[in-house]
Amino acid sequence: PKDPCIVLVTGAAGQIGYALVPMIARGAMLGLDQPVILHMLDIEPAAEALNGVKMELIDAAFPLLKGVVATTDVAEACKDVNIAVMVGGFPRKEGMERKDVMSKNVSIYKAQASALEKHAAPDCKVLVVANPANTNALILKEFAPSIPEKNITCLTRLDHNRALGQISERLDVHVSDVKNVIIWGNHSSTQYPDVNHATVTTSSGEKSVREIVTDDNWLNSEFISTVQQRGAAIIKARKQSSALSAASSACDHIRNWVLGTPKGTWVSMGVYSDGSYGIQEGLIYSFPVTCEKGEWSIVQGLKIDEFSRAKMDATAKELAEEKSLAYSCLN
Ligand code: NAI
Repeated sequence: PKDPCIVLVTGAAGQIGYALVPMIARGAMLGLDQPVILHMLDIEPAAEALNGVKMELIDAAFPLLKGVVATTDVAEACKDVNIAVMVGGFPRKEGMERKDVMSKNVSIYKAQASALEKHAAPDCKVLVVANPANTNALILKEFAPSIPEKNITCLTRLDHNRALGQISERLDVHVSDVKNVIIWGNHSSTQYPDVNHATVTTSSGEKSVREIVTDDNWLNSEFISTVQQRGAAIIKARKQSSALSAASSACDHIRNWVLGTPKGTWVSMGVYSDGSYGIQEGLIYSFPVTCEKGEWSIVQGLKIDEFSRAKMDATAKELAEEKSLAYSCLN
């Protein structure tokens, strides 16, 4: 049998945490043959609730779950972790300035980066979920210099899956028959959901989405804004933000990263830009990626039209601004 993989979930007493930890314990993240040990971190005010989650994990008697640590001590939480899913953060509250929220999260991610740097396994893979996800990941990268930059990513898979879902609903086909949408840029409302390379498997073979959805107007406006605004629509309906879909897509992100993407299929991940597609180096930007042997690589050579170019640049510009705001908080 395989050695257990140690998975850290920060903010584990929160909504996403509550949906995520049982998925991990059931093998949805790392596979049905991979035992796991869960490390759950939260802050002091949530310590009792966190312990309640631990009690439920014990009560669920998961065969793959070989241990649970519930703690408010960052060093203990980070010890020897192989996978770190960073869900904890400071939420924007009514009346708060963007800069104040950024400043809180910058200090959280700076401290947690140092703890991962000191205590995590050297090949630890990190997924940042907490918002502002791209910029939190960037700060984490800066303050954990010994963790390779290839190992630090942020979640845009939820947006990617939302885009697949919208196409599948529109065409009345199963979501697994739709592939290769792309989320470019920031996990924010400036993200660009791109269908220009997406395909659908039909009874008469693989067709491009552009070819089947004949309504260009829908693809160029409503589709894009629906995906961009889906988070807000969920909050409106549920009075709480998306949690089960966020948790599920976090599992998808790690599973594809570790176990690979199927041949001919790519997914979207927020990763450190190497300048691909003219995106400024040094931003954490969502790109189409394929994964093999535990490593992602950006899909190269896709044709970008003028419409896409403008949207890709606009979301890059927002990320550059977030980056400078984050750096101004460090001083
Ligand atoms: P929540 O408020 O229910 O849970 C957050 C948890 O983090 C709380 O238990 C809180 O005590 C904890 N926390 C706060 N500071 C912490 C720290 N320094 N260390 C450890 N834990 C800490 O929020 P929810 O709904 O679970 O969302 C979590 C984050 O994920 C939010 O930032 C949200 O905006 C983001 N999000 C990102 C998505 C994405 O696609 N990237 C999708 C949905 C949510």
